[in-house]
Amino acid sequence: MSGTRKVLIVGSGGREHALAWKLSLSPQVGSVIVAPGNDGWPVAWSRWAEANFAEMAAMKALARRAREAQVDLAVIGPDDPLANGIVDAFNAEGIACFGPTRAAAQLEASKAFAKEVMRAAGVPTAEAFVANSLEEAEAALVRFGKRDVVVKADGLALGKGVRVCFSPEEARQASQELFAISGRLLIEEKLQGEEISWMAFCDGEKCALLEPARDHKQLKDGNLGPNTGGMGAFSPVPGIPEHWYERMRSEVFHPVLKEMKRRGTPFRGLLYAGLMVDLQHDQFWVLEFNARFGDPEAQVLLPRMDEDFYEWCLASAQGQFPSAVRVRFKSDSAVVVVAAARGYPEKPQAGVSVSGKPGQSHEQSSGVPEIFWAGVTRQGQELVTSGGRVFGAMGMGPTLEQARAQAYERLSSRSFEQMVFRKDIALAQTGGGR
Ligand code: AMP
Ligand code: GLY
Repeated sequence: MSGTRKVLIVGSGGREHALAWKLSLSPQVGSVIVAPGNDGWPVAWSRWAEANFAEMAAMKALARRAREAQVDLAVIGPDDPLANGIVDAFNAEGIACFGPTRAAAQLEASKAFAKEVMRAAGVPTAEAFVANSLEEAEAALVRFGKRDVVVKADGLALGKGVRVCFSPEEARQASQELFAISGRLLIEEKLQGEEISWMAFCDGEKCALLEPARDHKQLKDGNLGPNTGGMGAFSPVPGIPEHWYERMRSEVFHPVLKEMKRRGTPFRGLLYAGLMVDLQHDQFWVLEFNARFGDPEAQVLLPRMDEDFYEWCLASAQGQFPSAVRVRFKSDSAVVVVAAARGYPEKPQAGVSVSGKPGQSHEQSSGVPEIFWAGVTRQGQELVTSGGRVFGAMGMGPTLEQARAQAYERLSSRSFEQMVFRKDIALAQTGGGR
């Protein structure tokens, strides 16, 4: 940290560890504050207590404190403070803030809104009906007939609001359960293909594409078990054609940015398109938008990014991009494997001791962290589990195979009792075995 700028990173997961680390590498950044961060992160970063992200008053107090501390840029990691207007709170204090306003964050917070924007913008996406009652849901299911559907709760639901169904009975059951959570459903045709996460910095008008990544959402090997926040990720994704960068820009990101601007709610920050792709037929569809970096995708994208992250965040926040359309990436591959606590995602077990001392990994400032810490807290001299996803072990190398081998080697050096992890992260891409 050689510069004079002060940055504040909001969040406490593996993604925010990666955000704070990458910002700390910028020649412009002199100090890093995290709110709240966690006990696995470097001690050189100041820590502020967590604000209640459901309360505007708490977010305003955080923004005021940031102004008093002369923070130059705030970077928001998670979705809920964005959906609740944290960026509006920082902007009201005159602080540049990387992330969309509350109105623009609706692209993630409401799947029905996202669908409406996609339709208006002509973005390829699955056919869907919005249902505001169980009767409307039933009518939608009848219209889909024998086709398989996906039932989605409208609001943010911590990854639990989506059910991929395999029969009309299952779809009816899912509609009832999810309707009880959100009161509004999206009933959508089920698409086939492979999923990728493609993100871009956005300044309200222009976008700059990152390279794509893939995460592994299901808990268990072979994509079995319940959906989670993400059990591992890798980047780059082999097989994505070069011309898709231009298609992604002109068929997805630009039309959406234009539509959001037309509505008077320009999108600034990081827009994440979750895509289903059919490489054989050269087709893709947007399944969802997120208004922030993916977790754990950020843990593989940021180490590969070969540019000053602070500059991109600031330019996105201030709405002043250069005309570049792509962000420069290293050719190296990166893999992250998530270690979760037993019981994740339903009821993770807390208080289990994690081997190794706190603050041991990466603290040499320019090296890529070996471990991105998430759900850990310090007890005496050791770290214990305090969340679902406990840490991510990261590997990098000239090939995905090498990156993968390094990630698993590091994972095994930081074990804890009944640690849950997938053994097949990036496996299909490398053809290797473990
Ligand atoms: P979402 O939160 O909308 O991305 O949905 C979570 C997960 O559900 C996605 O990552 C997909 O695995 C699956 N999914 C969502 N929509 C569809 C769809 N239309 N067809 C097939 N799978 C889907
Ligand atoms: N890893 C998926 C997400 O962050 O939404």
